Amino acid sequence: MTARTVLKLALPKGRLLEPSLTLLRSIGAAVSEPAATRKLLVPSSDGTLSVLFVKPADVPVYVESGAADVGITGTDVLRETAADVLEPLALGFGRCRMVVASPTQIPYPALPGGVTPRVATKYPRLTRAFFAETGQGVEVITVSGSVEVAPLLGLSHWIVDLVDTGRTLRENGLVERAPILDVGAVVVVNRASQKLRLEEHQRLLQALHDATT
Ligand code: PRP
Repeated sequence: MTARTVLKLALPKGRLLEPSLTLLRSIGAAVSEPAATRKLLVPSSDGTLSVLFVKPADVPVYVESGAADVGITGTDVLRETAADVLEPLALGFGRCRMVVASPTQIPYPALPGGVTPRVATKYPRLTRAFFAETGQGVEVITVSGSVEVAPLLGLSHWIVDLVDTGRTLRENGLVERAPILDVGAVVVVNRASQKLRLEEHQRLLQALHDATT
């Protein structure tokens, strides 16, 4: 008897975690939440997966390197890291958008007196690409979280961040100025792993596809 191949699945410990766990439950591959056990690599209940819990921005990194065979991530971090992975399935949850926002009193798309705008973001690559496209010279300030507070503290004039309901922007006196990217959860797959373990990948992708359509 040959040993069953278990795929390693990377999940992001952020806004996509709950819907990802719900999805895994729906295909019979339940796992306990990391907050409950503090274990970061756990087998799924049906024995088909080893689930790895990592920071959201690291899912594409783990999958590209082959440390994980497959992952669930947002297109925001996927495009930011530009990881070389397969992207076979959009999951239909985690939809939001990446935008430029600023305080109502700070002008957009240019500042008076030709001042170079400072833009705070967790997405420096996408932010630079967006402003390079518009022709606006900006200084990008990379922060790792709580981006909306940057203009209030005088750290930046504008921000680039995700917006879902818009509440965080409103509560912090910010308005949307320009859309950058539509964001949603997707499955990502390591290229070599898919070749080596085609059957296991196909089984998992088919189950995820059937559960999300
Ligand atoms: C995102 C984003 C905003 C918030 C927007 O944060 O960075 O802070 O959601 O949601 P809203 O429009 O419904 O108010 P996320 O939950 O991804 O956590 P983060 O702080 O790690 O970015």
